[in-house]
Amino acid sequence: MSPEQRPLPSRFALPLLGDTLAFARDAGGFLARRARELGPVFEINVFGHPTACFVGPEAFALILDDRNVERASANPPHVEAIFNPRAVPFLDGSTQRRRKRLLLKAFTESALDGYLPIIERVVARYTQRWVEKERFRWVPEINSLGFSIAGALFVGAPSDRDDPEIEEAFGKVAAGLLSLPVNLPFTPYGQALKARDYLLSIVDRALDAGERATQGGTNVLARLQQARDGDDRLARDELRIETFHFFGAYSAVIGGLSFLVSALGRFPDEADRARAEVLRESPTGPLTLASLRKLEYLDRFTREVRRAMPILPLTFFGRVKQEMTFQGVRIPEGHRAIGCIGATLLDPSTFPDPDRFDPDRWLTPTEQQKRAWVPHGGGNPADGHRCAGEALADLMMRALAVHLLRSHQWTFEAGQDFAPTKDKLFATPVDGLRVRFSRRASSEQSA
Ligand code: HEM
Repeated sequence: MSPEQRPLPSRFALPLLGDTLAFARDAGGFLARRARELGPVFEINVFGHPTACFVGPEAFALILDDRNVERASANPPHVEAIFNPRAVPFLDGSTQRRRKRLLLKAFTESALDGYLPIIERVVARYTQRWVEKERFRWVPEINSLGFSIAGALFVGAPSDRDDPEIEEAFGKVAAGLLSLPVNLPFTPYGQALKARDYLLSIVDRALDAGERATQGGTNVLARLQQARDGDDRLARDELRIETFHFFGAYSAVIGGLSFLVSALGRFPDEADRARAEVLRESPTGPLTLASLRKLEYLDRFTREVRRAMPILPLTFFGRVKQEMTFQGVRIPEGHRAIGCIGATLLDPSTFPDPDRFDPDRWLTPTEQQKRAWVPHGGGNPADGHRCAGEALADLMMRALAVHLLRSHQWTFEAGQDFAPTKDKLFATPVDGLRVRFSRRASSEQSA
């Protein structure tokens, strides 16, 4: 280390366990506290490894470059075991880019337009159910809605009914990701592996059905089976691994949808603006990508939801391939590396008054703010690890908002905690959003 270089700042960590317990209890809070104390790059010790943490768009940029950071075998073994070590988040270089090119073919504009009727059918069924229920906890309902849509999109499940077993199995998978990796029948990790195998058997059946089908379908799995890059296509094993991961990604969608309805209920001025825009630009009828694109305020609103209420605290893990320096701090080869998503989205030096919910901060964002909007990871999805499903997540959020704003109203019971959960990898509002829900009077007259 040259004399001008400083080592990565860190705090005392317990022998053996390091920071793993604090991290598992509240990864987002833990990383944000360390960032405040130690700056934009710092070291923690989790899952048995010294880990360099990167906060803010400049620091984040370092880990987006695969000459600096690689993913192979860098993630905790239990996370790789759940997703499969050959899933795209754990691939590097040309192997990762090839896989990603083929995966992104399931998220083109025409593909997304084809998913909208499926999404709208499930949303219409659920809004009807919510009117009938009148009072309920919204997060579990959104969980069922999300997995119903995921089932219809990814394994061709019928959109007119739910499959609680899929939902329950993914709950176990998500719990296993942030658990201690002890594989016994009663531990969260052991149960996650069992749930994974059950879900893979469902994916296998859907793949068999897709291979037998004489006509190409319009759901995500069919698109993936039809995806071609020249003569290249995804092998069956790749389809199986990635479809399972897509399902897992719905845990993040559920966080996004929950914070969206929470914000629409809690910020009445902003919600009124969003409703006025929906009633002006898209008051009735089936949605298309083109009709959703006209909803500029709603776009800013959903973007701000994902900034102000971070769903995920961090990216997947990488490993530093070659020593790097950031602002005079040396980041050694061999360290694990993570991008701190929550701490970047709520960093006051990038987003003034970061806890304030203000969709209009996206009217004229600075270049730095654009690069710091990392709820789906940083950089570019086509040539890096940024989320493959961002466009689908956008679509889901806007479609649900339009259906709700067109003809429903809701209020939240007083005295509940709307803050994000701390002990889960995918956050949702702590008290589950106890809501009173009804049809709007004006929409009853027109219905
Ligand atoms: C609000 C919803 C979502 C959020 C917040 C989210 C967030 C993320 C984040 C943070 C990453 C990791 C980036 C990294 O490690 O550098 C990621 C990766 C990924 N996401 Fe999402 N995601 C969402 C929805 C989806 C959906 C719906 C799908 C698929 C249907 C999806 C598919 C993927 C894939 C395949 C990757 C790995 C990409 C790669 O490594 O190249 N995500 N997502």
